[in-house]
Amino acid sequence: MTAEPGVQELRELVAEFEPGRGHVMPALHKVQDTYGYITRTAIEVVARQLNTTPALVYGTVSFYSDFRTHPPAETEVAWCCGPACRVMGGDRIREALQQELELPLNGQTPDHRIGLHIGQCNGTCSEAPQVWVNGEVVGDLTVAKAIRLARELKAGE
Ligand code: FES
Repeated sequence: MTAEPGVQELRELVAEFEPGRGHVMPALHKVQDTYGYITRTAIEVVARQLNTTPALVYGTVSFYSDFRTHPPAETEVAWCCGPACRVMGGDRIREALQQELELPLNGQTPDHRIGLHIGQCNGTCSEAPQVWVNGEVVGDLTVAKAIRLARELKAGE
């Protein structure tokens, strides 16, 4: 897990972005790519750099499910909410994962070992329905496969 970044470090990280709302998304992506999540301090630094308000930056963070405001779990499971995966039974996969992992969407186990969140279609729809486990596609899922996957993750496999 990456340590929470300080103000100076964050200022240097986003110094390349010119003021303007158009740079909110790229600046936030840079912060998250670097630290794994976006802290309250990062929101304030990005707002100051882009000459906008923390409320606007926070609104962007909370609107897009790709952004996280807490450190990622050791194993992040992203459930694809895209249309091809939904048509192929993605909602039943999500329900099975949530039930087996005992997690809400965008939740984490108390020990921070496993997180479950919403992912957007990444173009690998031929393997729908799917999830990504730490970015790796686990596709052609059935409910039985999803339950097995969740049990393996809980067992640390
Ligand atoms: S809809 Fe799930 S990968 Fe495209």
